[in-house]
Amino acid sequence: MDVKRIRKDFPILSIKVKGNDLVYFDNGATTQKPLSVIKAVEHYNENLNGNPHRGAHYLGVTSTEAYEGAREKVRAFIGAEKSSEIIFTRNTTESLNLIAYSYGLNFVNKGDEIVIAISEHHSNILPWQMVARVKGAVLKYMYTNEEGRITEEEYKSKITDKTKIVSIAQVSNVLGTKYPVKDIVKYAHEKGAVAIVDGAQSTPHMKVDVSDLDTDFFVFSGHKMLASMGIGVLYGKEKFLLEMPPFLGGGDMIEYVTEQDATFAELPFKFEAGTQNVEGAVSLGAAIDYLNSIGLDKIEAYEEELTEYALKKISDIDYVTVYGPKSAKNKGGIISFNVKDVHPHDVATILNNYGVAVRSGHHCAQPLMKHLGIQASSRASFYFYNTYEEIDKFIEALKNVRKWLGYGRS
Ligand code: ALA
Repeated sequence: MDVKRIRKDFPILSIKVKGNDLVYFDNGATTQKPLSVIKAVEHYNENLNGNPHRGAHYLGVTSTEAYEGAREKVRAFIGAEKSSEIIFTRNTTESLNLIAYSYGLNFVNKGDEIVIAISEHHSNILPWQMVARVKGAVLKYMYTNEEGRITEEEYKSKITDKTKIVSIAQVSNVLGTKYPVKDIVKYAHEKGAVAIVDGAQSTPHMKVDVSDLDTDFFVFSGHKMLASMGIGVLYGKEKFLLEMPPFLGGGDMIEYVTEQDATFAELPFKFEAGTQNVEGAVSLGAAIDYLNSIGLDKIEAYEEELTEYALKKISDIDYVTVYGPKSAKNKGGIISFNVKDVHPHDVATILNNYGVAVRSGHHCAQPLMKHLGIQASSRASFYFYNTYEEIDKFIEALKNVRKWLGYGRS
């Protein structure tokens, strides 16, 4: 992969931060945009903008084509059967809430069990806490082991005949672990449960095929895969989406409305109330084109090499603790760590003085932090436009962190 050439597509990667070249390692939170995505949105706004599905006029048609064209790109990208199974949302959080409010509140009953992983992002915890509270269901956790993995023994001991829903991230946003979601989905189905896979941290980095995974629902966000903020995706198997009531009511999601009642539009529009983020969908379509032009297999392989290199370098520093798998095999490009005696916010602030951007805090995963016995961590998360040289700069900066705080050793 010609990363040097690829980086030319991303104007923001050449900015300076405090006189240093930017080293952007916060891709787990938000990725940067190539010119093709920036220009696709510009082109849409300059030439095509209207309100889709509503106007018979020229711009009503062009905006509908742009919006539905993006939906078809998403369908193909994740291997869904029908574009009507692709629902645009604001982000992964909204997609998960839609499933919880629409499927969870209507199909989970008292005493049923909902099973999630301890490493879930809050967006895959709070909706299920709500369903459990309202319906009298039980929320159970699959725990990660010392390596940050969920073993077969662990998921088989938690998913039982009582389980109604299993919801798990394909890649942990803190540990980076790639969980065996295909096996977990299969086992959930054997037990009669519905399976949900959170692909927020996987879809941007590896080939996803929802038909092969056989998951009932799959969710992800645009802003972690080169697209704009405010556009997300919910994939659902048609048979579930058909039986689920709408999440939000309003414009464009109805068939007929009378004074006291309404019937609903066909899929996917039943779940897309109100004017949608069309330019966000356009940006996601352009992002998919860009990712396809490189190839997800190449992206995954390169990120694995980069992560292995970074893990090796970081593990040579004896006062740094890394959480999660210590090898890049079956791990995404995410490294969470702590520097002895230094708060993660101080680590991130000091690294910023060298131009290095990492996230620090609990990463919206407080139950996992408790499980790990920590309050917070710093997190470096990579994308295919990152380089070995940037890892070297990050490691050199990291070696200076304790010195900044007067610990007297580099
Ligand atoms: N969910 C994003 C992250 O993990 C914001 O950083």
